[in-house]
Amino acid sequence: MINRLNYAEFYITNHCNISCSGCNRFNNYKFSGSEDWDSYCNIYKEWSSLLNIDHIAILGGEPLLHPKLKQILNDVRSFWPNATIEITTNGLLIERIKPDLLQCLIDNNIQIYCSLHHPDWEEKIKKSMIDKFGNLELLEKKRIIENNPAGVDKFLTDTKNKIVLEYTYYFHQSALVKTKNNKFTVHNSNYEKAHSNCDMKHSFHFFKGDLYKCGLMVTLPQILEQKPEMFDIEKQQLNLLNEYTPVTLEHIKSGADLHDMLYSPMPQCEFCPEEYHYHEISTE
Ligand SMILES: C[S@@+](CC[C@H](N)C(=O)[O-])C[C@H]1O[C@@H](n2cnc3c(N)ncnc32)[C@H](O)[C@@H]1O
Ligand code: SF4
Repeated sequence: MINRLNYAEFYITNHCNISCSGCNRFNNYKFSGSEDWDSYCNIYKEWSSLLNIDHIAILGGEPLLHPKLKQILNDVRSFWPNATIEITTNGLLIERIKPDLLQCLIDNNIQIYCSLHHPDWEEKIKKSMIDKFGNLELLEKKRIIENNPAGVDKFLTDTKNKIVLEYTYYFHQSALVKTKNNKFTVHNSNYEKAHSNCDMKHSFHFFKGDLYKCGLMVTLPQILEQKPEMFDIEKQQLNLLNEYTPVTLEHIKSGADLHDMLYSPMPQCEFCPEEYHYHEISTE
């Protein structure tokens, strides 16, 4: 029985303040809805008594848009007191963080993982980090290719928060594919190849009290329900999507072997690409 995960994400909102082309959770298409935290926090408390998690990311969409972010951070910290907890943000709303949320980020030792989606934003976002958290002491600089901006810088602030700046100016294609009629369908890949290629394969998502294998299983049903006019997906693939079941507390309590449900390729992995092609992100 799995009772420990290295990493899990809390998916808390579909809303985003910008629209990045190819967003892997489709938040560029402006569909609505946010986690109703009050309805699920007790369920997450129970999860925490059965499952240790080393590293937790709280994201969306843009997590700084969730009106109850402070409560979410306080609760998640109290449920998993020893975990590394981060918010994953595009960084543009850092400058608008109010004093009570700032104090909550400091008190709960929350890491700020900022994916910079445009080179022009770097200075502005660094300045807002310094305004809120104090000076940035560089801890580590990782570059994938020398002299290429793609990579990660890690800082420690005066408030002792860790800040990670990821320079992400290129995205690979999402699960969505344009049809001849200018609608969207999903890929029809070899599911094992798609899984082996997938960069979300260990991004398990908590949402509405359950634990989903990936972000696609959380957001695809929601955007399909809210914007059916955007899609033209074969019935067989829709049926396959509907057959997906996340891991529930009941699974955990009954001692079910969760390894397969979380780590193995599943037929629904056919919705994602077998290979990635990258494009420069355009934002609006
Ligand atoms: C969906 S975003 C949500 C959090 C926040 N809005 C942000 O952009 O960081 C979560 C992570 O997914 C990454 N991401 C989104 N779409 C992607 C894609 N098509 N290819 C690669 N990474 C992607 C982002 O860079 C970010 O690190
Ligand atoms: S900032 Fe971009 S990648 Fe992040 S959720 Fe919004 S649209 Fe998606």
